[in-house]
Amino acid sequence: MTDTSTFTPPSDPAVEPERFAPRWAPDAPRGGRAVLTRVLKDSAAVPLFLGQTFVQSLRDVGYDSTTSALCEHVDNSIGAGASEVRIYFRQAGRRGAQQTDVLVYDDGPGMAPAVLQVATSFGGSMSYGSREGIGRFGMGMKTAALSLTPAVEIYSWQERRAFYRMILDTNAIGRDKANLITLPDPEFMAELPAEVGEFFVQPMGFPKNRSEQDLLGDTDDAGEAVGPSGTIIYMPDCDRLSYATAKTLVEHCVKEMARVYRRHIAGGLKLWVNNRPVEAIDPTFSMPNARHAAIDGLKTRTSRLVAAKKIAIERGGAHKPVEITVKLFALPIEEWSDLPRKVQKNDLGVFSGHNISVLRNDREVFAGFLSEIVRRHGDANWFRIEVDFTGELDEAFGVAANKQGVRLKSYVVDAIVKEIGDDVSSVREEIKRVQTKRSIAKRPDVPSASETRATEADAFQPDALDAELTETQRQQMDENLRGLAVVLKREGEADEAAFERVKQSKYLIGYRHDEYWPFYHVENKFGRIILTINTAHPFYAELYEPLMRVATPETGDGETGEPVASPAPNGPSVVLELMLFSLARAQSVLGRESPDAAKLFDTLRRKWSEAFRIQLTH
Ligand SMILES: Nc1ncnc2c1ncn2[C@@H]1O[C@H](COP(=O)(O)OP(=O)(O)OP(=O)(O)O)[C@@H](O)[C@H]1O
Ligand SMILES: [Mg+2]
Repeated sequence: MTDTSTFTPPSDPAVEPERFAPRWAPDAPRGGRAVLTRVLKDSAAVPLFLGQTFVQSLRDVGYDSTTSALCEHVDNSIGAGASEVRIYFRQAGRRGAQQTDVLVYDDGPGMAPAVLQVATSFGGSMSYGSREGIGRFGMGMKTAALSLTPAVEIYSWQERRAFYRMILDTNAIGRDKANLITLPDPEFMAELPAEVGEFFVQPMGFPKNRSEQDLLGDTDDAGEAVGPSGTIIYMPDCDRLSYATAKTLVEHCVKEMARVYRRHIAGGLKLWVNNRPVEAIDPTFSMPNARHAAIDGLKTRTSRLVAAKKIAIERGGAHKPVEITVKLFALPIEEWSDLPRKVQKNDLGVFSGHNISVLRNDREVFAGFLSEIVRRHGDANWFRIEVDFTGELDEAFGVAANKQGVRLKSYVVDAIVKEIGDDVSSVREEIKRVQTKRSIAKRPDVPSASETRATEADAFQPDALDAELTETQRQQMDENLRGLAVVLKREGEADEAAFERVKQSKYLIGYRHDEYWPFYHVENKFGRIILTINTAHPFYAELYEPLMRVATPETGDGETGEPVASPAPNGPSVVLELMLFSLARAQSVLGRESPDAAKLFDTLRRKWSEAFRIQLTH
């Protein structure tokens, strides 16, 4: 083996040929090997890019998915001013040996032949370095296409039936032995090749139901159908697709692009995937003309704008600060929580995880969770943040050449958190409150399992509870219990039903959300033990509520805040409630006999709660 750890000055390749023998893979580009050998042995001029291998390497630039690669083409179409963009996945052949061809068409102005030629070169761009549009690197079209197929064909025309074509074929380039590879002139053609033209005049294999497919034109003449100007990126025989079937490719593409290009679609862009129109999907639920707003049976159709802030981001040096816009939206949790799970999940997409959406020049570059800004938790499904920035802040937002995702610099995170952190906290508090209310919602009309058990067992207790009732109280009992029933009335329970329930139970549970309160509170009133649990104390979130969920595993995913069904009469949550009831009972009985003891119990309860809170939160 060659020792590479120490540097030895170069010696004459003719004398020491093995030192210059490249250790290339057998299937590495042969042309590239020839150039390399020539350079090494004959000291020929070294090209900055070894084209034969470089184009191969660019195939692995790393797009997250087929869809995100195709977005590069849609970006270009939008940038060129197209009003209609169509994406096709054509699949043919036997299962397991299928060929998938992908094509992107637009009806934009097309490119003049010279522009098309330049655009085919790496770094070739008509908007290089511009921060105003979507394109700025001169890479997208080529790298995205090659990330799917080894050979891409680009057609562009500015007059009916006057197509120009460029082909970028990595295998052909790999065989080229020239030191400097140049691009040929675009090829003129009066008709599109049959395998390309077919996309526009024949339905795709998926969707199977032909009536779902809206073809480009009602002609079988492809040259006519594609119109007087436009561009086609044809990626035949793709070998690196994210999914195996046309169906999944189409579905993923529709779902993602509906969101990524929501503003363009809402603004009039027509986008189609396998002849299926793409409707805008808005993860913030704020657009009145996106898909969610058309769902049947919604009373509240959009989210509520909680805050909208313009934040100046400093760029340092001589650069002027640039503003971004950050908006916070709260979903209508009270109403949407009552919707069937299918509507929440599939139709609305409440649990899509798209908590933060970041848009660069109106095109979404990221949707998901940014843990630097929002802690990921079930309640985060119920609010959304939208961040808008312009291309001038690409560095601050960490936008890479393939425009997938963001890597926010810490000063951007800090600026955002500083401006909306408090709003986010109060929205989260509000959401948690609603979720809490829903998750502890007990069945109306009937006492809970623990209330029933404690009431039934009371006859066996050595000392009675009712002792302290005064004569007047006894006389006014019904009146008193009616008052109590108002306080303890459950969601969906009628006044009269609450009264009946309170009347038949000696033990009653209520809830209160108060940060300054101990974790439980107990009262002995009208011969009843009233236990109040504080949902703001960590005892609630860390013990009580999880136990309630254990009792009802079928609803316990923490996402929907669905009401919890009655727990089993001997489940852990019932036992916990009994433990508190018995404590409450003992305190009442002892406190009744001695006011000093009552005071002491009260102090104990506060001290205990506080010590407990500190242990649970630090
Ligand atoms: N559909 C199209 N219609 C018209 N012109 C196009 C189209 N697609 C690409 N072009 C031209 O080709 C050039 C190169 O496109 P490419 O995507 O490679 O780079 P870019 O868009 O300039 O930059 P980026 O790498 O950021 O995408 C573009 O600058 C544009 O002039
Ligand atoms: Mg581009």
